[in-house]
Amino acid sequence: NWDMSGFIDEQIAHIREVVGDKKVLLGLSGGVDSSVVGVLLHKAIGNQLTSIFVDHGLLRKNEAEQVMEMMGQQFGLNIIKVDAQERFLSKLAGITDPEQKRKIIGNEFIQLFNDESTKLDGIEFLAQGTLYTDVIESGTDTAQTIKSHHNVGGLPEDLQFKLIEPLNTLFKDEVRELGEALDMPHEMVWRQPFPGPGLGIRILGDITEDKLEIVRDSDWILRDEISKAGLEADVWQYFTVLTGVRSVGVMGDYRTYDYTIAIRAITSVDGMTADFAQLPWPLLQKISARIVNEVGHINRVVYDITAKPPATVEWE
Ligand code: XMP
Repeated sequence: NWDMSGFIDEQIAHIREVVGDKKVLLGLSGGVDSSVVGVLLHKAIGNQLTSIFVDHGLLRKNEAEQVMEMMGQQFGLNIIKVDAQERFLSKLAGITDPEQKRKIIGNEFIQLFNDESTKLDGIEFLAQGTLYTDVIESGTDTAQTIKSHHNVGGLPEDLQFKLIEPLNTLFKDEVRELGEALDMPHEMVWRQPFPGPGLGIRILGDITEDKLEIVRDSDWILRDEISKAGLEADVWQYFTVLTGVRSVGVMGDYRTYDYTIAIRAITSVDGMTADFAQLPWPLLQKISARIVNEVGHINRVVYDITAKPPATVEWE
């Protein structure tokens, strides 16, 4: 695509000019946006880029390993991996309010970033995968904040870095085009969006290790079945939510009183508005049966049939 290669050349020239011989730091989340920024910057300034990848324990199944493999091994980025699962879980213990969870997770990130970056010498710039939509939805002085998105705000003011945000004029589909043009693997470029606070905002109520396992395992089943059905490109985002609701069920001859998993699957162009995806009934039937059979403490699965607005994509 001529437009995108033009954009890449422009950005690379611009980044080189701005950065000079200075060093840049990038927070890698494993998502499409920060990965594309990583590859773009690596192409522009090579080893002047250092990336920090924080495993906050709120990632999906095998996600941390995949990020390290792909970005570290395949693309050759210099990545500092921070294992902070325990730190995040202990800070989040007993917290049920969605905005409070988001703030705690965001703040811990800032702190970890501070800690890690002060160990590094001579970093002058911070790169971020902020999109045009993030800028709008996180609000400005005049617009009301809908949710405190954790990849925007906070970080730059707290750290004494100059910002580099090469994607902040782009929509998600354009970032994917950019990733393709940068020769990034298809499965990485077409990854569905994943929020910074991760599974932490897909568990309603307090977060525990057991609940994380439930969300992780049910999410994995959903992704596996959508992939087997060949629907990955048709559904914009899909995930499971541990609702916190308990209800009565029956398994064999026994009464159960267990948790409810909700499936959220949406079609969208940019996440600003969305419709629920009209997944085939037999597929939903299979996913439901697998979740109840394979995941502990789940005896009911429901499908979220709400559009955005009025619902948001994430439940918190
Ligand atoms: P909502 O729930 O606001 O989600 O309708 C819109 C899109 O944004 C993602 N999302 C986030 N992404 N940090 C992110 O990077 C966040 O804090 C965050 N919260 C929501 C959500 O998954 C959806 O794609």
